[in-house]
Amino acid sequence: MNAYFKQDEPDTRNLLDTGKQGVIGKALSRPEGLAKVTGTAPYSAEYQIDGCLEGVLVTAPFARGRITAIDKKAALAMDGVIAVIDDPRMTTRPAQGTAAAAPEQGPGEVDYFGQPIALIVAETFEQARHAAKNLPFDYEADEIGSVPLDPESAPRETDDGSSMSKGDLAHAMKTAPHTVDLRYRTHGHVSAAIEPHAAIAQWDGTKLTVHAAQQMPNYNIAELADITGLDEENVRLISRYVGGGFGSKLGVAEETAAAAIAAMQLSRPVRVVMSRQQVMQAIGHRSESRQRVRLAADSGGVLTGFGHEALVANLPGESFAEPVLQSSQFLYGGDNRLLKLEIARIHRSTAASVRAPGEAVGMPVLEAAMDVLAEEIGIDPVELRLKNIPEKDPDTGLPFTEHGLARCLKEGAEAFGWDSGPRQPRLKRDGDWWIGTGVASAARVHNVAEAKARVTLNPDGTASVQTDMTDIGTGTYAILSQIAGEMLGLPPEKVLVQLGDTDFPRGPGSGGSWGAASIGSAVLVACEELRGSLAEKAGVNSDELDIADGMLNGQPVSDLLGGKELSALGHYEPGKIADDYTSSGFGAFFAEVRVNRHTGEVRVSRMLGAFAFGRVLNAKTARSQCIGGLVWSIGTALTEALLFDPNDGHIANADLAEYHVPVHRDIPALDVLMLEKKDAAASAIQAKGIGELGMCGGAGAIANAIYNASGARIFEFPMTPDKVL
Ligand code: MOS
Repeated sequence: MNAYFKQDEPDTRNLLDTGKQGVIGKALSRPEGLAKVTGTAPYSAEYQIDGCLEGVLVTAPFARGRITAIDKKAALAMDGVIAVIDDPRMTTRPAQGTAAAAPEQGPGEVDYFGQPIALIVAETFEQARHAAKNLPFDYEADEIGSVPLDPESAPRETDDGSSMSKGDLAHAMKTAPHTVDLRYRTHGHVSAAIEPHAAIAQWDGTKLTVHAAQQMPNYNIAELADITGLDEENVRLISRYVGGGFGSKLGVAEETAAAAIAAMQLSRPVRVVMSRQQVMQAIGHRSESRQRVRLAADSGGVLTGFGHEALVANLPGESFAEPVLQSSQFLYGGDNRLLKLEIARIHRSTAASVRAPGEAVGMPVLEAAMDVLAEEIGIDPVELRLKNIPEKDPDTGLPFTEHGLARCLKEGAEAFGWDSGPRQPRLKRDGDWWIGTGVASAARVHNVAEAKARVTLNPDGTASVQTDMTDIGTGTYAILSQIAGEMLGLPPEKVLVQLGDTDFPRGPGSGGSWGAASIGSAVLVACEELRGSLAEKAGVNSDELDIADGMLNGQPVSDLLGGKELSALGHYEPGKIADDYTSSGFGAFFAEVRVNRHTGEVRVSRMLGAFAFGRVLNAKTARSQCIGGLVWSIGTALTEALLFDPNDGHIANADLAEYHVPVHRDIPALDVLMLEKKDAAASAIQAKGIGELGMCGGAGAIANAIYNASGARIFEFPMTPDKVL
């Protein structure tokens, strides 16, 4: 059976609420959790495959130029070396999430320091690594100084899709009683997923099978087919367990392309695992940004002008531009508006999606500027935000789906114990530590994507769900067992969820925070079809169905199946809802920090995030996503920054010892308030994206708390002690 649902309108049937099992929203642990923490869940590099060769990538030691010769003979003379592969299909900047490889780049061309230029394949990993370190090659590198590396002085283009202008911002800035015009800088970030990039490829002469750490098998299979010249039917991609993605595994990168090409060339299985340094140097990073925020407000604190401009960077020919202004399009009102995004073309590693692309750095800057405006007006910063929530999308005029910002600000303030009294800095001190608080809004667009899933009722009273959707640590295995369990009247442990295999129907992939709402809707559609079929078999109307714990209106469901399985393919697609509404998750952050008055050290002592993202599918996995966002917020505010060498663009801190993600010692007890309100226009399961929302603005609340504590207004993230003093 096939069932297709294209959602053109808000779906107020709330089908999930008709289930009788009572497991939706429950705080269930992830079913695969035990396998993951006991080391029995195989990650991509861990499959034991007989005769598997080991591949190690060689990378370019200069910013721009070309490889003129590789001494393959010398490498082949080294112990254990089987092949040296420099096929341009794996070295000319594969997609990394932006799909199109750079068009103007020819074979042997190098565009950034650390770009993979060859793959050494050997019998053992140690032999491959040795040969990779000692591979002789000749190159012509463009002279230091002639290669654009600094975004400020490099050639730039305007990203028209992210830019708009309405009314007259300059006039509003001239005439309003209260204005701020501020410039900020943010640094580059990396995803820092714990599992490095890894792939094993096998070729049987017709069919290519690849185990790879990927977020989006649904389109990674097309990329692989493209790279290898095979038809998709002859490619199978398996990503059952993925140890974190955060954007870095959206597209097929060099390790997967290289493993596939090598396996096909050598007719033997080949494994390629990147080192941590290679991941950081060669896999896409979040662009640094320069931003300017101009705000104009009337005497009551209502915005009359709103301007947000940003300069980001990427390699020539890359289509991705960090979408810094994405939330600024709709978060606050103001009739005179200007948004402008520019991209500088420089030769550092590819800039690509890293957790909450755009808002992760755009929102903290906007929210820091809002704090300066609140001080200038003399209004409480929570109040300022409440006054400027627009009725409709101020750019497009579209209505919003469920809009939770006001609730998050009010209920978050209440739960945090926000003091709306005077906010002069340095009012509170404990020994050597100034104490202060700050607030920021959260917003991140909600999207849904096309998704398919097969749901099967088995004669033994269990069910299974199959889709090539992934679980990158986010809870997909858990929530799909809950959705199918609720709809089919089964406890979740009786629902086997199978993910991450392109032999299954195409899911939406894990990206853009659209995964749960999209694939959950496809599973719902399949289950609705199965319920109809069960009702027919039982001779009752669908709306009279009472199924729970495997019993349907008093009869075991397995009896109705007559020893056969019953299966449905659910196909969900967003229709007009995607064009008729602006849909976003919203939230509010409240932070308390302690700033050491001698050293400038900042410690977040308390942080609360209140979030509204439609239906909560699993209170535990949803909360964990929010906690993750708060941790990323603390990293963005205080410690995370890529440091590029100004001469050749190499990353000077390309490991987790020098690139500082927060550790346990940096994180206080975090509070999460989930303000659930089902959003019928968001998806068929009334849920919106959560994943990235939790870090869209949080660093701004910390910046504002640093000012409130110490009086230091800082215009650069991260706010390290040298800037605080
Ligand atoms: Mo996300 S940065 O879309 O994986």
